[in-house]
Amino acid sequence: MYDSNPTLEGIKTMDESKQGSVLFKEHWQETLALGGKRFYIESYGCQMNFSDSEIVASILNEVGYSPTRNVEESDLILINTCSIREKAEDTVRKRLRFFETIKNQRPGTVVGVLGCMAERLKKKFLEEEKLVDIVVGPDAYRDLPNLIGGAEDGNRMVNVLLSREETYADISPVRLESNGITAFISIMRGCDNMCSFCVVPFTRGRERSRDPFSIVAEATNLFENGYREVTLLGQNVDSYKWENPETGERVNFANLLEMTALVHPNLRVRFSTSHPKDMTDEVLHIMAKYENICKYIHLPVQSGNSRVLEMMNRTYDRPWYEDRIRAIRAILPDAAVSSDIITGFCSETEEEHQDTLSIVEWANFSMSYMFFYSERPGTLAARKYTDDIPEEVKKRRLQEIIRLQNAVSLRHNQADIGKTFKVLVEGNSRKSDLDFCGRNTQNKMVVFPKKEGLKPGDYVMVRVKDATSATLLGEIV
Ligand code: 5AD
Ligand code: SF4
Repeated sequence: MYDSNPTLEGIKTMDESKQGSVLFKEHWQETLALGGKRFYIESYGCQMNFSDSEIVASILNEVGYSPTRNVEESDLILINTCSIREKAEDTVRKRLRFFETIKNQRPGTVVGVLGCMAERLKKKFLEEEKLVDIVVGPDAYRDLPNLIGGAEDGNRMVNVLLSREETYADISPVRLESNGITAFISIMRGCDNMCSFCVVPFTRGRERSRDPFSIVAEATNLFENGYREVTLLGQNVDSYKWENPETGERVNFANLLEMTALVHPNLRVRFSTSHPKDMTDEVLHIMAKYENICKYIHLPVQSGNSRVLEMMNRTYDRPWYEDRIRAIRAILPDAAVSSDIITGFCSETEEEHQDTLSIVEWANFSMSYMFFYSERPGTLAARKYTDDIPEEVKKRRLQEIIRLQNAVSLRHNQADIGKTFKVLVEGNSRKSDLDFCGRNTQNKMVVFPKKEGLKPGDYVMVRVKDATSATLLGEIV
């Protein structure tokens, strides 16, 4: 799913940071000249999965595999999967049937399933989906070369061991599908929250934080290679915590944010996802202190009703969430907040659904990711509650929320008309080569006519002239 001649910036290993990207390019070409193999990878689901695929690419590169965008010329086909909703799993099954046709044309091609579905279904995958040769869980990617070797010898291979330590801290990801300007850095893995609807704690295991110095080194390396924005990624970044095993020195998320912001004033820092129960004022004050920490917080509410939140095991209620929003408004008056929302959770009444509508309005979310509840086998909710809201009702409630959120987003964006924002140029706009696009600090996409000499990676001041619910339209001032 990426260029067969991938962007070479930012793909060096950490200790090669002084050597420049040319060395790496030569190494890559050498690999191919030696008759190296090609792999093809598709990723589904959250940003963490996309980030994991970049770690996988790095591990495969070490053993002589280079990436290809053309599945038909690959020796190894990998699919990095998501289990969060049933629909995501259905999509993967369809793709696997397509890969089977490729495998029939090219016997010897190895097909592997990575990620959350691999973890959830384990051996069952090999038995049910006979076309799969290897099944690898999110903590077992270092074992890939060994598993591929076994598959090449005609065996079906599985490693779905979850780890309490693995953070892939020493692996420098190969940036796939990169624009060369913005990159994701994984800062922790797993999740210790037990939201009753969520399969993630079962598929990604216990929460663990990565060594902060390896994070800062990765950010520095990216900056030196022309990147201008990093997003620190984790299921629940606010519970990031690391302790130096030798000195006992502790680093929390606020400290990590500050360390990353100090890499360079021209390196923007974003993060995702925050959990309302853990988001501290300390983090908000650090955000206020540094101009290059973007004023944008993704703070999933899930439901606007306290009884439903309790059943979801979110460990906060509506007043707590409102208090967090008030703290953001007080400390960061210009920050945008976005959310995730689930409609039709077990036993949700019409009145409780109205509470979700009202919090969208009250919190003035700049945007939301909205879903209807999909029961996942093995989760707390699947075991304790009945999935009793009919699908038509779930979908109708979802439509109501989407309609309201679109109106709130439009209002949010229209309020920006006349304002001027600092925008990081990311590249051509999707609709026209005459326009650039880039984001402002609030994570809003801004589209504006190009100017001579301006290029991706530059910062530019843009005045907003018009707005839709998804985009700001402006011109350079
Ligand atoms: N059904 C629907 N949506 C879900 N999410 C997580 N689990 C489910 C589920 N079982 C949503 C939540 C979460 C986002 C990543 O996906 O809103 O924040
Ligand atoms: Fe799932 Fe909740 Fe963890 Fe997010 S915080 S990954 S919703 S269990």
